[in-house]
Amino acid sequence: MDKLLIRGGRPLVGEVPISGAKNAALPELCAALLTADPVTLHNVPRLQDVATMLRLIRNMGVQVDRIANPDCSVADAAGIVRLDAGGLSTPEAPYDLVKTMRASVLALGPLLARFGEATVSLPGGCAIGSRPVDQHIKGLQAMGAQIVVEHGYMIARLPQGCTRLRGARITTDMVTVTGTENLLMAATLAEGETVLENAAQEPEVADLAEMLIKMGARIQGHGTSRVRIQGVERLHGCEHAVVADRIEAGTFLCAVAATGGDALLRHGRADHLDAVIDKLRDAGVQVAPEEGGIRVRSPGAAQLKAQGFRTTEYPGFPTDMQAQFMALNVVAQGTATVAETIFENRFMHVNELLRLGAKIQTTDGRVAVIEGLGGAAPTGARLSGATVMATDLRASASLVIAGLVADGETLVDRIYHLDRGYDCMEAKLRGLGANIERIQ
Ligand code: EPZ
Repeated sequence: MDKLLIRGGRPLVGEVPISGAKNAALPELCAALLTADPVTLHNVPRLQDVATMLRLIRNMGVQVDRIANPDCSVADAAGIVRLDAGGLSTPEAPYDLVKTMRASVLALGPLLARFGEATVSLPGGCAIGSRPVDQHIKGLQAMGAQIVVEHGYMIARLPQGCTRLRGARITTDMVTVTGTENLLMAATLAEGETVLENAAQEPEVADLAEMLIKMGARIQGHGTSRVRIQGVERLHGCEHAVVADRIEAGTFLCAVAATGGDALLRHGRADHLDAVIDKLRDAGVQVAPEEGGIRVRSPGAAQLKAQGFRTTEYPGFPTDMQAQFMALNVVAQGTATVAETIFENRFMHVNELLRLGAKIQTTDGRVAVIEGLGGAAPTGARLSGATVMATDLRASASLVIAGLVADGETLVDRIYHLDRGYDCMEAKLRGLGANIERIQ
């Protein structure tokens, strides 16, 4: 099991390329199932979750070719993937693949829309929460699908004699990112108009819609809470570049803020990170768009002020940035309160940060009060390196940021969690001057 060995205390300086967004690439790979024509996706990040999704759709009989070099070089030559679902034979997503990645549920809408049937394993829960898919099911049923859950599988089909889903007005009970994406993809081939109320506004949803429009879909309002889709008979192929990953960019912003330094995040989209950048500026970090990317300068965490925040749906503060910003608060000055409103168990990084010497108190697993060590620095208490364990994707990133600041060596174990969602993170951090290496 791979580990990351980090020797803290180095500022991060230089340039780093931000890869394509995991949470856009995953639905966009599934969008290729909607057409018999070839689809080419550019800027596909080299991630474990992407590899899992490619295995899943290959398993269905889709022709998949990775065109660029798959090795973990930091070069911009990001992954290009060519998909041809013309020969798709098995509209199924089996348990052994779905259990490792919940986003496999994104195959449900496209398979149902194109083939009129789909068998997709119910995704189990995961470390950060139960994560049901009841809204995906409810929405597809509103579009005419008959879905039964048997032996842990969602078995979906169209009513006898029906050849297409039918458009509907759907209001989800809460904002759901992949729920919106599943229904959006299904609606592109439905008969008539679908209106998604309470739709997720994340940039990854808007990027998926842009790709679907290139395929011939008729969509308005994507990126807002009301999306209108006029169904069409069929979609054709397209070429599309995956939007830059705002969570990877936000993670690097927090890392440079914490260690101090001066870096250019190439391809990063500052306009997708307003809530995070506002908080970083309030903390005392300089952040601004520059050369098609984001410039970040920081005097180091001990000079920064810890910031309170609540996670909410986009465009609010993203839950996927909560753990990383908490690591920054841990080493900044002052006390801050963090509230996690989206997932019920997304504080697993707290216990590991405590092992490094952080001062955090949590109540009911949804609110954490952080007493920043910055005030005591440079004489007082600081984080001290230790062996810590990654528990989920963003918690891993939080531990890496803490390790970059802690005195001495930090060994982050179980970094397969990190590899799910970060493209060559240690190589990118080394490129900024960090002392970090992967050990088996
Ligand atoms: C997406 O997950 C992201 N994953 C997550 O990123 C992200 O944390 C999450 O959105 C919130 O922004 C992908 O896009 C692949 P939701 P998703 O449906 O779609 C409840 C990362 O770190 N809910 O928006 O699964 C749910 O339990 C990952 O990159 C239902 O109750 O999240 C949660 O409390 C982690 N029923 C809330 O809604 C449903 O049918 C939001 O979940 C669907 C969701």
